[in-house]
Amino acid sequence: MQKFLILDFGGQYAQLIARRVRECGVYCELRPGGVSAAEIRAFAPIGILLSGGPHSVYAPDAPDVDPELFSLGLPVLGICYGCQLMAQKLGGAVVPARADGAREYGRTETDFDTDCTLFRGLPERSVTWMSHGDYLSALPEGFRAVARSAACPSAAICDEARGFYGLQFHPEVRHTEQGTALLRRFLFDICGATGDWSIADFRTRTVAELRERIGERRVLLALSGGVDSAVCAALLAEAVGERLCCVFVDHGLLRKGEGDAVEAAFAGRDLRFVRVDARGRFLRALQRIASPERKRKIIGAEFIRVFEEESRKLGTVEVLAQGTIYPDVIESGGGAAAVIKSHHNVGGLPEQLRFRELVEPLRALFKDEVRALGRELGLPEALVDRQPFPGPGLAIRIIGPVTADKLETLREADAIFRAELEGAGLRPDQYFAVLTNLRSVGVMGDGRSYDRAVALRAVQTEDFMTADWTRLPHALLDRVSTRIVNEVPGVNRVLYDITSKPPATVEYE
Ligand code: XMP
Repeated sequence: MQKFLILDFGGQYAQLIARRVRECGVYCELRPGGVSAAEIRAFAPIGILLSGGPHSVYAPDAPDVDPELFSLGLPVLGICYGCQLMAQKLGGAVVPARADGAREYGRTETDFDTDCTLFRGLPERSVTWMSHGDYLSALPEGFRAVARSAACPSAAICDEARGFYGLQFHPEVRHTEQGTALLRRFLFDICGATGDWSIADFRTRTVAELRERIGERRVLLALSGGVDSAVCAALLAEAVGERLCCVFVDHGLLRKGEGDAVEAAFAGRDLRFVRVDARGRFLRALQRIASPERKRKIIGAEFIRVFEEESRKLGTVEVLAQGTIYPDVIESGGGAAAVIKSHHNVGGLPEQLRFRELVEPLRALFKDEVRALGRELGLPEALVDRQPFPGPGLAIRIIGPVTADKLETLREADAIFRAELEGAGLRPDQYFAVLTNLRSVGVMGDGRSYDRAVALRAVQTEDFMTADWTRLPHALLDRVSTRIVNEVPGVNRVLYDITSKPPATVEYE
């Protein structure tokens, strides 16, 4: 299988680029911008893309690239920061644009030279998405400008002889009309991609690899009821059959009715299924813990301990499986982007753990690829298409310490919100209730109340790296608010969150 490499300079779009490349049928991975040429050689990609990033190439702390990268004989496409970095390394000059100069943000009419391979067969003028405060004041030797906008004379540059291309605009965002066509030109016509990456092949290959790797050993998998672990279970079941034991840890942090639904979904399937009631244990471990990151760590550690105990009961189980997916790997520090949250399902195994080996068969997949794999494996649509739910569950949707009462309150409010949304046929990408730590005064009948505020969150997003709040109908919000305040004891105020990500995150903790 061919591989393509994306070097990440901390741009918010690096993951999106990777998804676009895979949508073109080309397998790719993200690596930090500064990886060595030796590492790149070992990865053996068919081409390299240098992502955008928030820095200026002339800033003292600007992320750098191994200059040997340009001597590997591989095609290189630089986007925005990546383009400027390439130009600078090869002898060009990058300068800050004056506010009235070549600085551009947003949709921009751009002219392409269609005699350049990158733009061959594309319209001569189309809209691109720009976001840059610097521009190229001098091109490196061998380069020419092959696209221009009103403000920017070198919106794209190339040195076709060496296979080097640079774009000031972002081909990966949908606003760039010819973005995908452009990426395809680079991948197929310049790098020689054949489009040999598909989910069906991934399934066949991964099943064979898992069989080989696991052999006769038994595997223990944590089943959470979410998409990732369910797909992981189906994949492993195909590979090792009854040697797979799925343990569903009911940590008591699930949504209303979810524990039973998970059990029902897997009952009657060809898997060994064990449900462990660990509700009390998690509550005790979380007592008085207010810090979000500590909650995550405690829940992660407790999870591992429960599995360990279960595995002991099951005899020798040497392999632990987890449904970690690629965005978890990247967000936990796999790339140059800042570590925003540590996800409990990544980070390796604690030393005391008795498992010999950890398998994470979905580690290379993006969420939409995991869903596609789930369908490929014949999982029910309701499970495959489920909205994401974080591993630490409702614990990170209760601001401050978790208690049984708060969990009960949140579960009821959340169930009302979800039922009303689904009843209205609405389906934001993620939607849930949060129990805030705000108490406020209200009037109920003739009395004064001093109760909790519930926040409702609903977002539209393509990749969960950025998200916009959903414009829900006021009538629906009204109904939800009335129902929650009337039906859920201890809540006297309902708030609707109108913050996007960034600057807020999707979850509250
Ligand atoms: P944030 O809050 O980072 O959420 O904007 C982005 C997506 O990630 C989910 N999320 C988590 N998932 N463990 C998980 O398995 C976690 O600790 C965690 N934190 C956030 C969140 O629900 C959203 O879909």
